[in-house]
Amino acid sequence: MTMAPPNFALDTLATAVLFVDADLRIVHANAAAENLLRASSRTLVGAPLPKFFLDCARVRQVAARVLAESCPHTEHELVFARADNEVSVSLTASPMQSPPGAFAIELRAQDHHHRVEREERQHSLQEANRVLLRNLAHEIKNPLGGIRGAAQLLQRELRDADQREYTEVIIAEADRLQSLMDRLLTPHRLPRVESISIHEVLERVRALLLADSATLHGDSIEVERDYDVSLPQLLADREQLIQVFLNIGRNAMQALAGRDHRRITLRTRAARQVTLARQRHRVALKVQVIDNGPGIPADLRQRIFYPLVSGREDGSGLGLSIAQTYVHQHNGLIDCESTPGRTCFTVLLPFNHPPAGAQ
Ligand SMILES: Nc1ncnc2c1ncn2[C@@H]1O[C@H](COP(=O)(O)OP(=O)(O)O)[C@@H](O)[C@H]1O
Ligand SMILES: [Mg+2]
Repeated sequence: MTMAPPNFALDTLATAVLFVDADLRIVHANAAAENLLRASSRTLVGAPLPKFFLDCARVRQVAARVLAESCPHTEHELVFARADNEVSVSLTASPMQSPPGAFAIELRAQDHHHRVEREERQHSLQEANRVLLRNLAHEIKNPLGGIRGAAQLLQRELRDADQREYTEVIIAEADRLQSLMDRLLTPHRLPRVESISIHEVLERVRALLLADSATLHGDSIEVERDYDVSLPQLLADREQLIQVFLNIGRNAMQALAGRDHRRITLRTRAARQVTLARQRHRVALKVQVIDNGPGIPADLRQRIFYPLVSGREDGSGLGLSIAQTYVHQHNGLIDCESTPGRTCFTVLLPFNHPPAGAQ
């Protein structure tokens, strides 16, 4: 029995199909697979399948599971590294009778609707959270001024230095809360859009990161530029974008503290055919901030964009929440993938679509 059905039949399928042997080496790729992966059959055949994925361990795990359970399994949101960009796919592996240990693999570009729907759900949940927090912050801020003022008056009345220590604690804590509330309330200025160069923004962020790292690590860190200089200008709020990439970059730098070969990469690319805020864009801007740090702790991964979620003892948990607010105000998207050794934040922004509410 031959391992694969006749090639011409497979080549008529719209689904990307690969056959791999027991070592997960690709034995055959149909035309749809070549198309989806933007690689010729010649490049694919003979190469180990996992090596094409960012998370090769997960592909191996799927294979091991299929083998152990002898039934097909589908894994979603695996990222396949194409020659010029990445594509998120769902992968179904089915065991084959012969030769033993071989698999048939079906790949589908991640269902767009599924993703859009999930993002919209997340978006509205986060908006609701933000409104709640904002209202709460207002409610706390007002009486806080009164508490602080009263403590100050009381302090003047007190003769005993020991007792004054108590009023000092009240004042200091009121100040701390006040500044936290202020930070919760700030990000709601509407973007002021102008035509800007993303690389100018990133260069500024890079300079700030380098200066920061000298203080944090005592020496400098490598901040690599991987820019597509042919990208056009975009309509955006310069200050807000600086804040977005600075917040992401600072987290990366903090995650790299105490490690060797610290590297942050700032990457810009054109993203083709993306949907942002329900609008289809033929081309949009993709900016990635990649670090080779330990990765985001698994228990935080789903929640990092929520306000007040922090993995650091002295963290405020506001950095990514603010970044996300700004990106959404620009009708963009922010997302993150993280495994130990590689954390990548991706920001997608429309080039020419003025943010809602902007003049
Ligand atoms: N590049 C990264 N590598 C590892 N962990 C990260 C990275 N970026 C963010 N995190 C995690 O996400 C948390 C939330 O980040 P953020 O919203 O900026 O708040 P903060 O920096 O004040 O903790 C961080 O505390 C950290 O645990
Ligand atoms: Mg932060």
